Order: sequence, then structure tokens, then C-alpha cells
Amino acid sequence: MRHLLSTHDLSRADAIRILDTAEEMSAVNDREVKKLPALRGRTVVNLFFEDSTRTRISFEAAAKRLSADVINFAAKGSSVSKGESLKDTAQTLEAIGADAVVIRHPASGAAQRLATTDWISAAVVNAGDGTHEHPTQALLDAFTLRRHWAKLAGTPSGGTDLAGAKVTIVGDVLHSRVARSNVWLLTTLGAQVTLVAPPTLLPIGVEHWPCTVAYDFDEAIDAKPDAIMMLRVQAERMNASYFPSTGEYSRRWGLGDERFARLAELGLADTVILHPGPMVRGLEISSTAADSARSQVLRQVANGVSVRMAVLYLLLSSGLYAQDATAAHAKESAS
Ligand code: NCD
Repeated sequence: MRHLLSTHDLSRADAIRILDTAEEMSAVNDREVKKLPALRGRTVVNLFFEDSTRTRISFEAAAKRLSADVINFAAKGSSVSKGESLKDTAQTLEAIGADAVVIRHPASGAAQRLATTDWISAAVVNAGDGTHEHPTQALLDAFTLRRHWAKLAGTPSGGTDLAGAKVTIVGDVLHSRVARSNVWLLTTLGAQVTLVAPPTLLPIGVEHWPCTVAYDFDEAIDAKPDAIMMLRVQAERMNASYFPSTGEYSRRWGLGDERFARLAELGLADTVILHPGPMVRGLEISSTAADSARSQVLRQVANGVSVRMAVLYLLLSSGLYAQDATAAHAKESAS
């Protein structure tokens, strides 16, 4: 594997390898000197055609902690706003010697396009393409859940998957690359995923996804999920009205104070709450829920750095990933 474009085509062995490597990286992030020499002399370009806070900072921190040189390229203020094409931009990056390109783009498929042409020879990491995929977000979510549950069980998390865990993903699935990447990855890792959304915010063909679809958030809570992942209402991607009013949305599909209190009433002491950020407080999640002890939101951000370090390391350090992943596949199919 030369690139990380999606979780749809990520094998269980590759996913666990990334999570296990992230575990090692997180030990570095806990040290006083948070730095490894692993990618010294390598250049990572963050190519962001869409706004981002967490993801861009996270990739930057990850590359720097591995001692890579980092170039941040934001489309605003660059020649892209003068009409330069993705191809010309990519070829410029190739000419300056980028070893990895982390790309976020409003068009679904942009990362794939960059990786499958001969414009560049760098490894491509998809940091979110339109409404399609956001693989490192799903990996950091899986990492957060795996760690949390291992800690509860008092067992090491290395090598394990999420078998049997019930994860409920709620909100604007239609526009969410986070939801898509999570459905593929979490099910690859053995979790049972339920999507809860208004019918207007579910994509066509969702019945063919490897998950359950529901419309009633309260019923989904009665099913006692181990984790609830709230999605942002992505107003910037909406070109029509998808629900009657924000009040109606938060009443039916938001994790407000009353619904949050039901988790305790039902005795769901260990159910955790995730959100990829940025959160729209008061719409999809209340502050009580977001700032509660169940909330993993800041842990997700911290874990994101470890997961992105693992991805950059595995893709860039002497091509090891390609060889070992092939060996792991061979072993898996032989067994
Ligand atoms: C998500 C994204 O950009 O897809 N955010 C993120 O990367 N942390 C989710 C969102 O914008 O709602």
C-alpha cells in the first residue's frame, strides 16, 4: 500500500497495524521530548483546499514529531485562487520534492485522482475529499474506542479489534465523509454500526451499507450502544432545506440534556460520546454532553496526532509498510 485514500479498501490486518503503530507513537507523545528522528530529511506537504482546524494542525504536529519538513499549502492566497489546476499544483509539489502529500479537497475523489495519475510520485494521504472519505478520522475514532475499552477491561489494546461493540452514528450522514469512513472501518474491525438520521439526510443506497439504519434516536439509545458518535450538521454542503427547523432537528436528532440524562437512567455507565469536531453546540450536541466525563472529544484530537504519525511513518519509512502489509495479507489468506 503506497497511499491512504479510504477505509473502504483497508484490510483488517492493515487497520490493526496502523492502530498498533499509533499505540507506539502515543508513547512518544506522552514523553517530555515529543520527537522521533524517523522521517528526518523527508518533506510532507499539507495541501488544503478546504477549511480545517483540527486535521491540518494534527497532520502538521504528526509530521514535525517525526522530524519531517512540513510545508503548509492553503488554497486561499495561493495560485489556486488564480485558477491553477490540481495538476499544475501537484507538479509544483513534485518539483520541490514532496515525499508525502496530505490533501483535503471539496471534490469527492480528489485524493484518488492525485494518487492514480503520474503527476506526482509522493505518497498521498486523504484528509477528507468532499462527502466521500476521511480515513484518518475513522482510524483515530477506532483507536480512541479500542483504547477506552481495553482500559475498562484492564487489558492491553495492541492487536485487538472492536468485535461485538455497538456504535451508533447520528446526524447528517448524507454529507459526512466521517460517517462513511467509520462505517467501513468499524465494520472491518468487527463492530456493529447503526446510523440514525432524518430520512432526508441519508444517502441513496445506504441500505446496501454494512450497517443498520434507524430514524428514531431514542429507540437507538434503548438498544444500549457502547458508543454514540454525533455528526456535525454540515450546512455548508446543503443546497436545500433538509429538515423543518433547527429546533426540530435538535429535538429529534440532537444529543440534548434530556437524552443525555437517559444514558444514566438506563444504566449505561460506560457508553461514550464522540464527535469529530467542529461541534455546533446546541444543535447536534448540548454543552452538558460535550463537556461530560463520557465525552471523548478532546481525546480524539490528541489521539489524532498519534494515528497520523503512524500513517506517515508506515507510508514513508523505507517502504516497510508495503512489504509487511503484503506479508500480512499472505498470512491472513493462508490461515
Ligand atoms: C470533519 C470533516 O472535515 O470532515 N471534521 C474533521 O476533520 N475533524 C467533520 C466536519 O467537518 O463536520
